[in-house]
Amino acid sequence: MSTQPGTTPTPEPGTSLAEQTHIAAGGDVDVIAIAPDPAEAEGILENAKLEDIFDADTYAKAQNLIARYPQSRSALLPMLHLVQSVQGYVSQEGIAFCAQNLDLSDAEVSAVATFYTMYKRRPCGEHLVSVCTNTLCAAMGGDAIYKKLQTHLGSEEKPLGHNETAGTPNEPGSITLEHAECLAACDLAPVIQVNYEYFDNQTEEKAVALVDALQAGKKPAPTRGAPLTNFKGAELQLAGFFPEDAQQYRTDVDGPSQAVETLRGAQVAQDRGWTAPAMKDVPLPEVEKK
Ligand code: FES
Repeated sequence: MSTQPGTTPTPEPGTSLAEQTHIAAGGDVDVIAIAPDPAEAEGILENAKLEDIFDADTYAKAQNLIARYPQSRSALLPMLHLVQSVQGYVSQEGIAFCAQNLDLSDAEVSAVATFYTMYKRRPCGEHLVSVCTNTLCAAMGGDAIYKKLQTHLGSEEKPLGHNETAGTPNEPGSITLEHAECLAACDLAPVIQVNYEYFDNQTEEKAVALVDALQAGKKPAPTRGAPLTNFKGAELQLAGFFPEDAQQYRTDVDGPSQAVETLRGAQVAQDRGWTAPAMKDVPLPEVEKK
């Protein structure tokens, strides 16, 4: 720190500050990931050969994404999913890959990648299991399910933590566990997602059977939605790439998405002849000038 009399101390830039951040972070993996270990990160971007990590097909997919938008920077979100489809998380090299292709700075890419929870800062397991612990799911058993999976995938002495992986990341049968905010299926609470596919109306027993099956290499059918793939496969779909064969496309990504519970209100309204009052065509108020 440099301090002038009567002024606020100014942190010195450089590794010493990063080291201080790490010491202060302790075991907080999110902080550590935002401020990579100086010893490990030193020179990583200069030394990394991106072509060794991202093959010609991935570069071609990146160009395909960029061509979908009027401005290349608009492709950043799908590009980060593309990176995850290769590495299972957003690495420092992945950040550099996006920055180079989109003509952004590493800092601009990092700012986005660390804002959204769907971009992972550490390598994920073959499957990502998200347990909703938001208010309604928590009250309906989501908290108990999460705690049960923490000890089932870890142990009583060392429960698996948020965003930690049971098994070796990227290896078959490995599972990353996370608690999630509302997964937009409150009428089917408590819910779990595996690679973002829904498993509704869960119990502790059902959740344990689900992760046991995943660890055994099985792919149980979600309650609704597309069949299960794996985390990297789901990330490729989120990036916007699907099988070209129409039949295969339907098989891979299609499935019933609605549930009886979700449509119950609409059904009651239809049975009773209820309709919403017509909206008047009222002009929007003027926006106040500043
Ligand atoms: S609270 Fe869990 S889906 Fe909404």
